[in-house]
Amino acid sequence: MKSIHLYLLLLISIFSACEQEDITTSEVKEPKLPEQPYDYKTLKLPLNTHPGMVTFNNITPDIIMIDPAFNGQSLSSMKVTDEGASLGRVLFYDKQLSINNTIACGTCHHQDKAFTDGLAVSKGFEGKTTDRSSMAIINPIVQNNLFWDSRSFSIQDLSLKPVQNHIEMGMEKLHRLEDKLNNVEYYRTLFEEAYGSGRVTSEHISLALSEFVASITSSNSKFDQGNFNELENRGRVLFDQKCGSCHAGANFSAEDGPGGEYGVSFDNITGTGIQNLKGTTNIGLEVVSSDQGFEGKFRIPTLRNIMLTAPYMHDGRLKTIDDVLDHYSSNIKPNVHLDKKFKDAQGRVKMISMNFAEKEAIKAFLHTLTDYTMITDPKYSDPFKY
Ligand code: HEC
Ligand code: HEC
Repeated sequence: MKSIHLYLLLLISIFSACEQEDITTSEVKEPKLPEQPYDYKTLKLPLNTHPGMVTFNNITPDIIMIDPAFNGQSLSSMKVTDEGASLGRVLFYDKQLSINNTIACGTCHHQDKAFTDGLAVSKGFEGKTTDRSSMAIINPIVQNNLFWDSRSFSIQDLSLKPVQNHIEMGMEKLHRLEDKLNNVEYYRTLFEEAYGSGRVTSEHISLALSEFVASITSSNSKFDQGNFNELENRGRVLFDQKCGSCHAGANFSAEDGPGGEYGVSFDNITGTGIQNLKGTTNIGLEVVSSDQGFEGKFRIPTLRNIMLTAPYMHDGRLKTIDDVLDHYSSNIKPNVHLDKKFKDAQGRVKMISMNFAEKEAIKAFLHTLTDYTMITDPKYSDPFKY
Protein backbone atom coordinates (compact mmCIF):
# COMPACT_ATOMS: atom_id res chain seq x y z
CA MET A 1 0.00 0.00 0.00
CA LYS A 2 2.83 2.31 0.90
CA SER A 3 4.18 2.50 -2.61
CA ILE A 4 0.79 3.23 -4.08
CA HIS A 5 0.36 6.13 -1.77
CA LEU A 6 3.83 7.44 -2.47
CA TYR A 7 3.13 7.16 -6.15
CA LEU A 8 -0.16 8.97 -5.82
CA LEU A 9 1.43 11.61 -3.67
CA LEU A 10 4.10 12.14 -6.25
CA LEU A 11 1.53 12.55 -8.95
CA ILE A 12 -0.42 14.94 -6.78
CA SER A 13 2.65 17.07 -6.57
CA ILE A 14 3.21 16.79 -10.27
CA PHE A 15 -0.24 17.62 -11.41
CA SER A 16 -2.19 19.44 -8.78
CA ALA A 17 -2.31 23.12 -9.35
CA CYS A 18 -0.90 23.32 -5.84
CA GLU A 19 -0.95 25.82 -3.05
CA GLN A 20 0.77 28.61 -4.87
CA GLU A 21 -1.43 31.57 -5.61
CA ASP A 22 0.50 32.91 -8.54
CA ILE A 23 -0.38 30.21 -10.99
CA THR A 24 0.31 31.47 -14.44
CA THR A 25 -0.07 29.85 -17.77
CA SER A 26 3.19 29.82 -19.62
CA GLU A 27 3.90 30.95 -23.15
CA VAL A 28 3.21 27.62 -24.79
CA LYS A 29 2.39 27.28 -28.40
CA GLU A 30 -1.06 26.24 -29.47
CA PRO A 31 -1.66 22.62 -30.33
CA LYS A 32 -1.87 21.93 -34.05
CA LEU A 33 -4.96 19.89 -34.85
CA PRO A 34 -6.46 18.61 -38.11
CA GLU A 35 -9.45 20.43 -39.67
CA GLN A 36 -11.63 17.40 -39.01
CA PRO A 37 -10.85 15.34 -35.91
CA TYR A 38 -9.16 11.98 -36.47
CA ASP A 39 -11.25 8.85 -36.22
CA TYR A 40 -10.97 7.65 -32.64
CA LYS A 41 -14.41 6.13 -32.21
CA THR A 42 -13.70 3.14 -34.45
CA LEU A 43 -11.67 1.09 -32.02
CA LYS A 44 -9.55 -1.32 -34.01
CA LEU A 45 -9.01 -4.07 -31.50
CA PRO A 46 -7.23 -7.38 -32.12
CA LEU A 47 -9.15 -10.41 -33.27
CA ASN A 48 -9.18 -13.57 -31.19
CA THR A 49 -6.71 -15.56 -33.19
CA HIS A 50 -4.34 -16.75 -30.52
CA PRO A 51 -4.63 -20.16 -28.85
CA GLY A 52 -5.64 -19.76 -25.24
CA MET A 53 -6.95 -16.32 -25.89
CA VAL A 54 -9.69 -15.33 -23.53
CA THR A 55 -12.56 -14.54 -25.82
CA PHE A 56 -13.95 -11.14 -25.15
CA ASN A 57 -17.43 -12.55 -25.02
CA ASN A 58 -16.49 -14.36 -21.82
CA ILE A 59 -15.62 -11.18 -20.02
CA THR A 60 -18.58 -9.93 -18.06
CA PRO A 61 -19.92 -6.69 -19.43
CA ASP A 62 -19.89 -4.98 -16.07
CA ILE A 63 -16.15 -5.50 -15.75
CA ILE A 64 -15.21 -4.59 -19.24
CA MET A 65 -17.27 -2.13 -21.12
CA ILE A 66 -17.10 -3.49 -24.61
CA ASP A 67 -20.35 -4.80 -25.99
CA PRO A 68 -20.59 -8.58 -26.41
CA ALA A 69 -20.79 -8.35 -30.18
CA PHE A 70 -17.43 -6.67 -29.91
CA ASN A 71 -17.73 -4.42 -32.86
CA GLY A 72 -15.55 -2.00 -31.03
CA GLN A 73 -18.09 0.76 -31.26
CA SER A 74 -20.45 0.62 -28.38
CA LEU A 75 -19.17 1.06 -24.89
CA SER A 76 -21.58 0.53 -22.10
CA SER A 77 -20.65 3.42 -19.90
CA MET A 78 -18.13 5.60 -21.64
CA LYS A 79 -18.22 6.28 -25.30
CA VAL A 80 -15.13 7.30 -27.21
CA THR A 81 -16.02 10.21 -29.48
CA ASP A 82 -13.71 11.82 -32.01
CA GLU A 83 -14.08 15.21 -30.32
CA GLY A 84 -13.62 13.88 -26.78
CA ALA A 85 -10.49 11.93 -27.66
CA SER A 86 -9.11 14.88 -29.65
CA LEU A 87 -9.41 17.02 -26.55
CA GLY A 88 -7.90 14.16 -24.52
CA ARG A 89 -4.92 14.07 -26.86
CA VAL A 90 -4.23 17.76 -26.25
CA LEU A 91 -4.57 17.33 -22.48
CA PHE A 92 -2.33 14.24 -22.57
CA TYR A 93 0.53 16.21 -24.10
CA ASP A 94 -0.10 19.57 -22.43
CA LYS A 95 2.53 20.48 -19.84
CA GLN A 96 0.20 23.13 -18.48
CA LEU A 97 -1.50 20.34 -16.57
CA SER A 98 1.47 20.38 -14.22
CA ILE A 99 2.11 22.98 -11.58
CA ASN A 100 5.30 24.32 -13.12
CA ASN A 101 4.41 23.56 -16.73
CA THR A 102 7.15 20.97 -17.10
CA ILE A 103 5.37 17.61 -17.13
CA ALA A 104 2.62 16.12 -19.23
CA CYS A 105 1.30 12.57 -19.37
CA GLY A 106 3.35 12.33 -22.56
CA THR A 107 6.55 13.06 -20.63
CA CYS A 108 6.41 9.55 -19.15
CA HIS A 109 4.40 7.92 -21.93
CA HIS A 110 6.08 8.28 -25.38
CA GLN A 111 4.23 7.09 -28.47
CA ASP A 112 7.38 5.76 -30.19
CA LYS A 113 8.04 3.55 -27.15
CA ALA A 114 4.46 2.23 -27.01
CA PHE A 115 3.82 4.87 -24.33
CA THR A 116 6.60 3.92 -21.94
CA ASP A 117 9.57 6.23 -21.46
CA GLY A 118 12.61 4.00 -21.79
CA LEU A 119 13.60 4.56 -18.16
CA ALA A 120 13.67 2.16 -15.22
CA VAL A 121 11.78 4.72 -13.16
CA SER A 122 10.36 7.99 -14.42
CA LYS A 123 11.32 11.51 -13.56
CA GLY A 124 8.49 13.69 -12.41
CA PHE A 125 8.06 17.25 -11.40
CA GLU A 126 11.33 18.73 -10.06
CA GLY A 127 13.21 15.58 -10.99
CA LYS A 128 11.75 13.33 -8.29
CA THR A 129 11.49 9.73 -9.41
CA THR A 130 8.53 7.39 -9.44
CA ASP A 131 8.69 4.10 -7.53
CA ARG A 132 7.77 2.06 -10.56
CA SER A 133 8.50 1.93 -14.23
CA SER A 134 6.17 3.75 -16.58
CA MET A 135 3.72 1.37 -18.24
CA ALA A 136 3.00 0.84 -21.88
CA ILE A 137 -0.50 1.92 -22.87
CA ILE A 138 -1.72 -0.72 -25.31
CA ASN A 139 -5.34 -1.78 -25.72
CA PRO A 140 -6.12 -0.73 -22.15
CA ILE A 141 -9.75 -1.22 -23.08
CA VAL A 142 -9.34 -5.01 -23.04
CA GLN A 143 -7.64 -4.93 -19.64
CA ASN A 144 -9.73 -5.01 -16.54
CA ASN A 145 -6.70 -4.69 -14.31
CA LEU A 146 -4.66 -1.54 -14.68
CA PHE A 147 -1.37 -0.43 -13.09
CA TRP A 148 1.44 -2.74 -11.94
CA ASP A 149 -0.57 -3.80 -8.88
CA SER A 150 -3.90 -3.98 -10.73
CA ARG A 151 -5.35 -1.44 -8.36
CA SER A 152 -7.65 -0.06 -10.99
CA PHE A 153 -10.13 -2.43 -12.54
CA SER A 154 -11.07 -0.90 -15.87
CA ILE A 155 -11.17 2.25 -17.93
CA GLN A 156 -14.63 2.72 -16.49
CA ASP A 157 -12.78 3.09 -13.25
CA LEU A 158 -9.93 4.91 -14.97
CA SER A 159 -12.26 7.64 -16.13
CA LEU A 160 -12.93 8.41 -12.51
CA LYS A 161 -9.89 7.32 -10.54
CA PRO A 162 -6.48 6.68 -12.09
CA VAL A 163 -6.56 9.69 -14.30
CA GLN A 164 -7.53 11.74 -11.31
CA ASN A 165 -4.89 9.89 -9.34
CA HIS A 166 -2.49 10.97 -12.00
CA ILE A 167 -3.51 14.57 -11.90
CA GLU A 168 -4.96 15.50 -8.56
CA MET A 169 -6.13 13.63 -5.48
CA GLY A 170 -8.56 15.66 -3.49
CA MET A 171 -11.15 17.63 -5.36
CA GLU A 172 -10.13 20.84 -3.63
CA LYS A 173 -6.92 20.70 -5.65
CA LEU A 174 -8.56 19.93 -8.93
CA HIS A 175 -10.51 23.16 -8.99
CA ARG A 176 -7.23 25.01 -9.33
CA LEU A 177 -6.43 23.04 -12.44
CA GLU A 178 -9.89 23.93 -13.72
CA ASP A 179 -9.21 27.62 -13.08
CA LYS A 180 -5.87 27.40 -14.80
CA LEU A 181 -7.20 25.68 -17.91
CA ASN A 182 -10.21 27.99 -18.05
CA ASN A 183 -7.70 30.73 -18.82
CA VAL A 184 -6.20 28.86 -21.75
CA GLU A 185 -7.76 30.10 -24.96
CA TYR A 186 -7.61 26.92 -27.07
CA TYR A 187 -9.46 24.83 -24.50
CA ARG A 188 -12.68 26.84 -24.86
CA THR A 189 -13.35 25.54 -28.37
CA LEU A 190 -12.07 22.05 -27.63
CA PHE A 191 -14.28 21.57 -24.56
CA GLU A 192 -17.21 23.12 -26.40
CA GLU A 193 -16.80 20.69 -29.32
CA ALA A 194 -16.37 17.68 -27.05
CA TYR A 195 -18.96 18.29 -24.37
CA GLY A 196 -21.12 21.19 -25.52
CA SER A 197 -19.75 23.63 -23.00
CA GLY A 198 -16.59 25.68 -23.17
CA ARG A 199 -16.22 25.58 -19.38
CA VAL A 200 -13.39 23.39 -18.16
CA THR A 201 -14.48 20.97 -15.45
CA SER A 202 -12.44 18.26 -13.77
CA GLU A 203 -15.03 15.65 -14.83
CA HIS A 204 -14.55 16.60 -18.45
CA ILE A 205 -10.74 16.69 -18.10
CA SER A 206 -10.88 13.19 -16.69
CA LEU A 207 -13.35 11.93 -19.25
CA ALA A 208 -11.44 13.35 -22.21
CA LEU A 209 -8.15 11.84 -20.99
CA SER A 210 -9.92 8.51 -20.57
CA GLU A 211 -11.39 8.68 -24.03
CA PHE A 212 -7.96 9.29 -25.49
CA VAL A 213 -6.36 6.52 -23.42
CA ALA A 214 -9.18 4.14 -24.36
CA SER A 215 -8.66 4.94 -28.02
CA ILE A 216 -5.07 3.67 -27.98
CA THR A 217 -5.31 0.35 -29.75
CA SER A 218 -2.87 -2.04 -31.33
CA SER A 219 -4.05 -4.64 -33.81
CA ASN A 220 -1.73 -4.33 -36.77
CA SER A 221 1.45 -6.12 -35.73
CA LYS A 222 3.00 -8.89 -37.82
CA PHE A 223 1.44 -11.24 -35.28
CA ASP A 224 -2.03 -9.88 -36.07
CA GLN A 225 -1.38 -10.25 -39.79
CA GLY A 226 -0.34 -13.84 -39.13
CA ASN A 227 2.44 -14.24 -41.71
CA PHE A 228 5.29 -15.74 -39.71
CA ASN A 229 8.58 -16.98 -41.03
CA GLU A 230 9.93 -20.33 -39.88
CA LEU A 231 11.90 -19.01 -36.90
CA GLU A 232 9.01 -16.84 -35.71
CA ASN A 233 6.65 -19.76 -36.02
CA ARG A 234 8.94 -21.98 -33.97
CA GLY A 235 9.07 -19.17 -31.43
CA ARG A 236 5.31 -18.95 -31.37
CA VAL A 237 4.93 -22.62 -30.51
CA LEU A 238 7.59 -22.36 -27.80
CA PHE A 239 6.02 -19.19 -26.44
CA ASP A 240 2.63 -20.87 -26.18
CA GLN A 241 4.16 -23.78 -24.26
CA LYS A 242 6.39 -21.81 -21.93
CA CYS A 243 4.84 -18.37 -21.52
CA GLY A 244 1.34 -18.45 -22.95
CA SER A 245 -0.43 -19.65 -19.82
CA CYS A 246 0.31 -16.32 -18.14
CA HIS A 247 0.78 -13.91 -21.03
CA ALA A 248 -2.52 -14.89 -22.63
CA GLY A 249 -5.45 -13.39 -24.41
CA ALA A 250 -5.66 -10.61 -26.91
CA ASN A 251 -3.18 -8.48 -25.04
CA PHE A 252 -0.80 -11.27 -23.91
CA SER A 253 -1.64 -10.46 -20.32
CA ALA A 254 -3.91 -11.98 -17.71
CA GLU A 255 -7.39 -10.62 -17.64
CA ASP A 256 -8.91 -10.49 -14.23
CA GLY A 257 -11.99 -12.30 -15.38
CA PRO A 258 -14.16 -14.76 -13.49
CA GLY A 259 -12.96 -18.32 -13.88
CA GLY A 260 -9.55 -17.33 -15.19
CA GLU A 261 -6.52 -18.87 -13.52
CA TYR A 262 -5.36 -15.47 -12.30
CA GLY A 263 -8.76 -13.88 -11.94
CA VAL A 264 -11.68 -14.49 -9.66
CA SER A 265 -11.51 -18.22 -9.31
CA PHE A 266 -12.17 -21.27 -7.24
CA ASP A 267 -9.57 -21.63 -4.51
CA ASN A 268 -7.52 -24.65 -5.56
CA ILE A 269 -5.73 -24.96 -2.27
CA THR A 270 -8.63 -25.23 0.13
CA GLY A 271 -11.11 -26.35 -2.48
CA THR A 272 -13.50 -23.73 -1.29
CA GLY A 273 -14.15 -20.08 -1.62
CA ILE A 274 -13.38 -17.50 -4.18
CA GLN A 275 -10.12 -15.70 -4.58
CA ASN A 276 -9.31 -12.72 -6.65
CA LEU A 277 -5.78 -12.66 -7.94
CA LYS A 278 -6.45 -9.58 -10.07
CA GLY A 279 -4.41 -10.95 -12.95
CA THR A 280 -1.24 -10.71 -10.88
CA THR A 281 1.47 -13.13 -9.84
CA ASN A 282 5.06 -13.32 -8.62
CA ILE A 283 7.87 -14.43 -10.91
CA GLY A 284 10.63 -14.51 -8.32
CA LEU A 285 12.50 -11.31 -9.06
CA GLU A 286 13.74 -11.19 -5.47
CA VAL A 287 13.69 -13.33 -2.32
CA VAL A 288 12.06 -10.61 -0.22
CA SER A 289 9.78 -8.23 -2.10
CA SER A 290 10.89 -4.64 -1.71
CA ASP A 291 7.70 -3.44 -3.38
CA GLN A 292 4.68 -5.42 -2.22
CA GLY A 293 2.61 -4.70 -5.33
CA PHE A 294 -0.70 -6.51 -4.85
CA GLU A 295 -0.05 -8.88 -1.94
CA GLY A 296 3.46 -9.61 -3.16
CA LYS A 297 2.37 -10.03 -6.76
CA PHE A 298 2.39 -7.89 -9.89
CA ARG A 299 0.22 -7.60 -12.94
CA ILE A 300 1.02 -9.99 -15.76
CA PRO A 301 1.76 -7.25 -18.27
CA THR A 302 0.99 -7.09 -21.96
CA LEU A 303 3.76 -8.28 -24.29
CA ARG A 304 2.48 -6.35 -27.29
CA ASN A 305 5.21 -3.98 -28.48
CA ILE A 306 7.52 -5.54 -25.89
CA MET A 307 10.63 -4.93 -28.01
CA LEU A 308 9.98 -1.18 -27.67
CA THR A 309 9.46 -1.00 -23.92
CA ALA A 310 12.80 -1.85 -22.24
CA PRO A 311 13.84 -1.77 -19.47
CA TYR A 312 11.56 -4.45 -18.11
CA MET A 313 9.51 -5.35 -15.01
CA HIS A 314 7.67 -3.12 -12.52
CA ASP A 315 10.93 -1.55 -11.39
CA GLY A 316 12.72 -1.64 -14.74
CA ARG A 317 15.41 -3.90 -13.26
CA LEU A 318 16.05 -5.96 -16.41
CA LYS A 319 17.68 -4.00 -19.22
CA THR A 320 17.13 -6.23 -22.22
CA ILE A 321 14.88 -8.99 -23.46
CA ASP A 322 17.85 -11.37 -23.10
CA ASP A 323 17.98 -10.49 -19.40
CA VAL A 324 14.27 -11.34 -19.17
CA LEU A 325 14.72 -14.74 -20.84
CA ASP A 326 17.76 -15.44 -18.66
CA HIS A 327 15.67 -14.56 -15.62
CA TYR A 328 13.04 -17.16 -16.51
CA SER A 329 15.62 -19.81 -17.43
CA SER A 330 18.13 -19.35 -14.62
CA ASN A 331 17.54 -16.50 -12.14
CA ILE A 332 14.13 -17.06 -10.51
CA LYS A 333 14.36 -16.56 -6.73
CA PRO A 334 12.36 -18.47 -4.09
CA ASN A 335 9.94 -15.76 -3.01
CA VAL A 336 7.12 -16.64 -0.57
CA HIS A 337 4.60 -15.49 -3.16
CA LEU A 338 6.30 -17.31 -6.05
CA ASP A 339 3.81 -18.64 -8.61
CA LYS A 340 3.17 -22.39 -8.39
CA LYS A 341 4.25 -22.80 -12.01
CA PHE A 342 7.78 -22.05 -10.82
CA LYS A 343 7.78 -24.70 -8.09
CA ASP A 344 8.26 -28.45 -8.23
CA ALA A 345 6.40 -31.00 -6.09
CA GLN A 346 8.81 -30.37 -3.19
CA GLY A 347 8.27 -26.62 -3.42
CA ARG A 348 11.73 -25.97 -4.87
CA VAL A 349 12.22 -23.37 -7.57
CA LYS A 350 11.59 -24.73 -11.04
CA MET A 351 12.77 -22.49 -13.87
CA ILE A 352 11.57 -22.51 -17.49
CA SER A 353 14.08 -24.52 -19.46
CA MET A 354 15.15 -22.79 -22.67
CA ASN A 355 18.32 -23.35 -24.64
CA PHE A 356 20.00 -20.66 -26.74
CA ALA A 357 18.23 -21.59 -29.97
CA GLU A 358 14.85 -21.63 -28.22
CA LYS A 359 15.49 -18.21 -26.73
CA GLU A 360 16.37 -16.85 -30.18
CA ALA A 361 13.13 -18.26 -31.59
CA ILE A 362 11.03 -16.78 -28.76
CA LYS A 363 12.73 -13.44 -29.32
CA ALA A 364 11.90 -13.59 -33.03
CA PHE A 365 8.29 -14.26 -32.07
CA LEU A 366 8.24 -11.34 -29.62
CA HIS A 367 9.44 -9.09 -32.45
CA THR A 368 6.25 -9.93 -34.37
CA LEU A 369 4.26 -8.17 -31.64
CA THR A 370 5.59 -4.74 -32.63
CA ASP A 371 2.88 -2.58 -34.16
CA TYR A 372 4.41 0.18 -36.27
CA THR A 373 0.96 1.59 -37.06
CA MET A 374 0.25 2.34 -33.42
CA ILE A 375 3.59 4.01 -32.76
CA THR A 376 3.42 6.28 -35.81
CA ASP A 377 -0.30 7.03 -36.06
CA PRO A 378 -0.66 10.85 -36.06
CA LYS A 379 -3.83 10.62 -34.00
CA TYR A 380 -1.78 9.54 -30.97
CA SER A 381 1.07 11.99 -31.58
CA ASP A 382 2.04 15.12 -29.69
CA PRO A 383 0.05 18.06 -31.12
CA PHE A 384 2.49 20.55 -29.58
CA LYS A 385 5.36 19.21 -31.70
CA TYR A 386 5.38 20.59 -35.21
C1 HEC B 1 6.02 11.01 -13.82
C2 HEC B 1 5.69 10.03 -14.82
C3 HEC B 1 4.24 9.82 -15.22
C4 HEC B 1 3.33 10.77 -15.63
C5 HEC B 1 3.52 12.25 -15.71
C6 HEC B 1 2.13 10.04 -15.99
N1 HEC B 1 2.31 8.71 -15.82
FE1 HEC B 1 0.97 7.23 -16.26
N2 HEC B 1 2.19 5.88 -15.38
C7 HEC B 1 3.42 6.15 -14.82
C8 HEC B 1 3.86 5.03 -14.02
C9 HEC B 1 5.15 4.97 -13.21
C10 HEC B 1 2.85 4.04 -14.12
C11 HEC B 1 2.78 2.74 -13.36
C12 HEC B 1 2.31 3.12 -11.95
C13 HEC B 1 1.99 2.00 -11.00
O1 HEC B 1 1.76 0.89 -11.42
O2 HEC B 1 1.95 2.27 -9.79
C14 HEC B 1 1.81 4.61 -15.02
C15 HEC B 1 0.67 3.93 -15.42
C16 HEC B 1 -0.29 4.47 -16.27
C17 HEC B 1 -1.41 3.73 -16.82
C18 HEC B 1 -1.76 2.26 -16.61
C19 HEC B 1 -1.49 1.42 -17.83
C20 HEC B 1 -1.90 -0.01 -17.65
O3 HEC B 1 -1.94 -0.75 -18.64
O4 HEC B 1 -2.18 -0.44 -16.53
C21 HEC B 1 -2.15 4.62 -17.56
C22 HEC B 1 -3.42 4.34 -18.35
C23 HEC B 1 -1.49 5.91 -17.45
N3 HEC B 1 -0.36 5.77 -16.69
C24 HEC B 1 -1.96 7.08 -18.02
C25 HEC B 1 -1.45 8.34 -17.71
C26 HEC B 1 -2.12 9.60 -17.97
C27 HEC B 1 -3.46 9.74 -18.67
C28 HEC B 1 -1.31 10.59 -17.48
C29 HEC B 1 -1.57 12.08 -17.43
C30 HEC B 1 -2.77 12.49 -16.74
C31 HEC B 1 -0.13 9.94 -16.95
N4 HEC B 1 -0.25 8.59 -17.08
C32 HEC B 1 0.96 10.63 -16.43
C33 HEC B 1 4.14 7.32 -14.98
C34 HEC B 1 3.58 8.53 -15.32
C1 HEC C 1 3.61 -17.49 -13.95
C2 HEC C 1 3.26 -16.48 -14.90
C3 HEC C 1 4.29 -16.04 -15.94
C4 HEC C 1 4.96 -16.83 -16.85
C5 HEC C 1 4.91 -18.34 -17.02
C6 HEC C 1 5.73 -15.92 -17.65
N1 HEC C 1 5.55 -14.62 -17.23
FE1 HEC C 1 6.43 -12.97 -18.03
N2 HEC C 1 5.66 -11.84 -16.52
C7 HEC C 1 4.82 -12.29 -15.53
C8 HEC C 1 4.65 -11.24 -14.54
C9 HEC C 1 3.80 -11.29 -13.28
C10 HEC C 1 5.45 -10.15 -14.96
C11 HEC C 1 5.67 -8.81 -14.23
C12 HEC C 1 6.57 -9.07 -13.02
C13 HEC C 1 7.02 -7.86 -12.24
O1 HEC C 1 7.18 -6.79 -12.80
O2 HEC C 1 7.22 -8.03 -11.02
C14 HEC C 1 6.06 -10.56 -16.22
C15 HEC C 1 6.89 -9.74 -16.99
C16 HEC C 1 7.41 -10.09 -18.22
C17 HEC C 1 8.12 -9.19 -19.09
C18 HEC C 1 8.39 -7.71 -18.82
C19 HEC C 1 7.21 -6.87 -19.23
C20 HEC C 1 7.38 -5.40 -19.02
O3 HEC C 1 6.51 -4.63 -19.49
O4 HEC C 1 8.34 -4.95 -18.36
C21 HEC C 1 8.46 -9.91 -20.21
C22 HEC C 1 9.22 -9.39 -21.42
C23 HEC C 1 7.98 -11.25 -20.02
N3 HEC C 1 7.34 -11.33 -18.81
C24 HEC C 1 8.14 -12.29 -20.92
C25 HEC C 1 7.86 -13.62 -20.63
C26 HEC C 1 8.29 -14.74 -21.44
C27 HEC C 1 9.06 -14.60 -22.73
C28 HEC C 1 7.87 -15.87 -20.79
C29 HEC C 1 8.15 -17.30 -21.18
C30 HEC C 1 9.54 -17.65 -21.30
C31 HEC C 1 7.15 -15.45 -19.60
N4 HEC C 1 7.17 -14.09 -19.54
C32 HEC C 1 6.55 -16.33 -18.71
C33 HEC C 1 4.25 -13.56 -15.45
C34 HEC C 1 4.68 -14.66 -16.18
